[in-house]
Amino acid sequence: MYNITIIPGDGIGHEVMEGGKLILDKLNINFRLKEADAGFECFQKTGETISDETIKIAKSSDAVLYGATTSTPNEKSPIITLRKELDTYGNLRPVKSFKGVKSLYNDLDFLIVRENTEGLYSQIEELNKDKATALRVITKKASERISNLAFKECIYRDYSKVTCVHKSNVLKKTDGVFKESFYKIAKNYPKIHVNDYYVDATAMYLLTKPQEFDVIVTSNLYGDILSDEAAGLVGGLGFAPSGNIGEKYGLFEPVHGSAPDIAGKYISNPCAMILSIAMMLDYLGEIELRKDVVNAVEEVLKDRKTLTPDLGGVNTTIEMSKAIGQKLNGSD
Ligand code: NAI
Ligand code: MG
Repeated sequence: MYNITIIPGDGIGHEVMEGGKLILDKLNINFRLKEADAGFECFQKTGETISDETIKIAKSSDAVLYGATTSTPNEKSPIITLRKELDTYGNLRPVKSFKGVKSLYNDLDFLIVRENTEGLYSQIEELNKDKATALRVITKKASERISNLAFKECIYRDYSKVTCVHKSNVLKKTDGVFKESFYKIAKNYPKIHVNDYYVDATAMYLLTKPQEFDVIVTSNLYGDILSDEAAGLVGGLGFAPSGNIGEKYGLFEPVHGSAPDIAGKYISNPCAMILSIAMMLDYLGEIELRKDVVNAVEEVLKDRKTLTPDLGGVNTTIEMSKAIGQKLNGSD
């Protein structure tokens, strides 16, 4: 029995979470689900994008599932607040090609490990008359911790190389710390190949030679941008799951946002959410169940019978989720 906090959020967050719950229902294991609020709708109701109560519920559970939330103009971001509160310092964003999905590449399998607690996403900003400033804090502690996680994930996932991505030719001090910390930690993992690239070059290499990557470790903003780019290589945001990992908590969410352009139509692709559930199962130690869920997603994609419109199909979020659920039961 696991206690799971579910935060659907806004827009398609509701739809993909509904699909995700169908999958949780099918698994041969008990989940006690507790729903909590965050996001734009929550702000309209309560004046807060995320409440202390939601954070408390999240902290009392075994893992958190987050749909997606719509940003508000002035308030703090609920997902960034939650990642910080739970000290989930590492954001794991796998990039994987799936058979049957039209994509730029069909042979990719790598992982982006993004630092989650500092950098330009610290939300330390100031507006002073005509001048706005954002503080970019990079500490040795956080840089070493994230590098360590990247090497551990490299071993766990049977990869052989870790690439550090930075811009230390311009941001000499902040990215200097990040790069030095990476090479310091690398000494503890002599069997793993290492290299480093500037972030701008990496943006190009992701298009020209993405097969060369195993694990990319990078700071907060770079990781956010590069992981959306990488999602574009394998069929779009509908296939980009993620896990936020810390010492005490795990928070799992699709990389995509609330997609206001398609919200309400139930045409959102549920795969990123369902693959995030697979990552949560892995975190909970339910390795076999993780494999089952990934296999079920792969089979439905390969069959090409029940697909949402972004995949060339005519089905709804719920129909596609149900088809994946049926594969789990072997009843298809
Ligand atoms: P988005 O990820 O919501 O959408 C980008 C594009 O991808 C849209 O064309 C959308 O229709 C499509 N898309 C996204 N997920 C999809 C899915 N599952 N199936 C099919 N198509 C999908 O990003 P956008 O439009 O930049 O942001 C919308 C809102 O979401 C904003 O308020 C933004 O701040 C917020 N956001 C929230 C995130 C979170 O909650 N973690 C992450 C990213 C954005
Ligand atoms: Mg993003």
